[in-house]
Amino acid sequence: MQKPKFYVTTPIYYPSDKLHIGHAYTTVVADALARWHKFLGKEVRFLTGSDEHGQKIQRIAEERGVSPQEYVDRIVATFKDLWRRLNIEYDDFVRTTEPRHERAVQEVFRRIYEKGDIYKSTYKGWYCTPCETFWLESKLVDSNCPDCGRPVELVEEESYFFKLSKYADRLLKHIEDHPEFIQPESRRNEMVSFIKSGLDDLCVSRTTFDWGIPVPIAEGHVIYVWFDALTNYLTGVGFPDNQESLAKWWPADVHLMAKEILRFHAVIWPIILMALDLPLPKIIFGHGWLLFDSDKMSKSKGNVVDPIALIEEFGVDPIRYFLLREISFGQDGNFNRQALIERTNADLANDLGNLLNRSLAMLEKYHGGIIPAPIQPEQVDHNLVMFAEDTVGKFRELIDKLAINDALAALWQLVRRGNKYIDETAPWALAKDPEQKGRLDTVMYNVFELLRILALLLKAFIPETSARIWQQLGIDEPLDELLIDAVEWAGLRPGTITHKGDPIFPRIHTKVEVKTAAAAVSAKEPQIKVKAAETGTSGDDKTGGDNLIDISEFARLDLVVARVVSAEEHPNADKLLKLQVDAGDGQRQIVAGIAQHYQPEELIGKNIIIVVNLKPAKLRGEISEGMLLAATSSDGTLELVSVSSRIAPGSRVK
Ligand code: MSP
Repeated sequence: MQKPKFYVTTPIYYPSDKLHIGHAYTTVVADALARWHKFLGKEVRFLTGSDEHGQKIQRIAEERGVSPQEYVDRIVATFKDLWRRLNIEYDDFVRTTEPRHERAVQEVFRRIYEKGDIYKSTYKGWYCTPCETFWLESKLVDSNCPDCGRPVELVEEESYFFKLSKYADRLLKHIEDHPEFIQPESRRNEMVSFIKSGLDDLCVSRTTFDWGIPVPIAEGHVIYVWFDALTNYLTGVGFPDNQESLAKWWPADVHLMAKEILRFHAVIWPIILMALDLPLPKIIFGHGWLLFDSDKMSKSKGNVVDPIALIEEFGVDPIRYFLLREISFGQDGNFNRQALIERTNADLANDLGNLLNRSLAMLEKYHGGIIPAPIQPEQVDHNLVMFAEDTVGKFRELIDKLAINDALAALWQLVRRGNKYIDETAPWALAKDPEQKGRLDTVMYNVFELLRILALLLKAFIPETSARIWQQLGIDEPLDELLIDAVEWAGLRPGTITHKGDPIFPRIHTKVEVKTAAAAVSAKEPQIKVKAAETGTSGDDKTGGDNLIDISEFARLDLVVARVVSAEEHPNADKLLKLQVDAGDGQRQIVAGIAQHYQPEELIGKNIIIVVNLKPAKLRGEISEGMLLAATSSDGTLELVSVSSRIAPGSRVK
């Protein structure tokens, strides 16, 4: 049986300059969709490319004193380098200066001309070179381009025109009959109004410059750059010569782009296809803009974000994850460093990284790193499995609707559920009781089965991370080859030998993060009453009387939130544990007398409160750089003072 197919495209970007994070956004979404559909078992084609012709590129090249071809060759090399670094697995890259594309565009032009839908006349009107768009005088805003606000130029030249108006009613009918054709819905409505306001025939050739594909039927004309560019979606599937490929892949399943070029894709492109008697793409999605600190990114404002610098600083998956998770697909969204750091720390380091780390640490300790068999299930396990199965269903549905950020949000509920399951089942307590071995085995199996499923579901979105999790899980089957049917509970083979490695996402430390987090805490003024410290002083209430201190004395204490990164028994003392904690400014070691109250692995990931400005001391040969806070009740029960993972390490407590 033939596999179903999925054909997805990005816009072909102008090689007028290097790409920024906005271009990376569309391309990461396309890559994630392509990978996801492969995972669903489909044959996938993912096309991207470069839009190299036109007056804009010709002028820039002239300014730089190089030929347009030399100029674009240089820039296109930077596009490909960026896609490689972002792990973008495209199947084809169409450059509009390639002979195969020239052949396709001329053929499109010739066929439409022969059909009588292209005719010669004279164009007199305005042209915006940065947008490569023709404008009627009546559409200008303050004499400038209504799209980008920049000055337009008066153009008067003999041109070929394409009869857009002839197809307007057919296009409106198609939009009405196919509600999913233009998305999101709000933009479909804009497109409908635009078409209803009347379509002018489109000028599809230019004579005042020559950096373009020659009109095949007349000397001295080059084809209008948008007519040329849109055709790339056909070039990439073999039009006009490879009929077999065309039949297999066309129509495209999803054309992705941002809202400013939706009009070209939702009006001009479908009409070109109608004139060619080819079917229309299934979905044209015009997503929102990535803003920088709420402002549109532009070179002239100097606020464009370079994705390569970000990848070098943070790694590729934090960037991919941020773009896919943070921005509501379809809406404008904000990019800023602080948000990127917070998202990485909260979701990747804390939730996912922690789930993996603590599980591997426990498995190593209780089972020598080998996955046990789940022999004694209980209701709590069943609840976890149900939650996981529900989440997988929800995740698939949301990706299907292109609600990628919502899908990832739903999946992270499951990641957090996994951490909660560990807290609820307390493997460290089960490990103390030999009679509970069956329960311990079952809990450990379930935790790892959950991690296996998460790695599978995430491989389209953060592929490098999935591969690292997979490697640490020690599963033999190649991750690349597994499809959605592997996401079935109980697929993990008992006996699998895990490989505990470095944490997949170390927390990112920055001064900015600490400041902001501290501000957030002080704004809430948490009312934490600390009654006892780690040495276990009694919990007697000693408020009032001679014990009163003034605020300046209290202010001398530097109390902060610290996250426990690792914990182990003290080599020379039964009652002490040795903790490595992250107090927002890097790691430090704390030695605490809590060994009778906590198993080391139980502490990993906990957000505790420590005094950071205590003089370092050596406790039984181990340095301790701070003191943690704990409360002890009169029966000797001790509990560490802690806050939830929403509060970042380094946040002040006052
Ligand atoms: N060459 C045309 C497209 C022709 S497609 C047949 C073009 N190129 S472009 O280089 O200007 O790319 C525009 C596209 O880049 C947007 O539609 C979007 O996909 C992406 N983005 C560029 N900046 C962006 C943001 N700030 N935010 C989101 N997407 C952005 O137009």
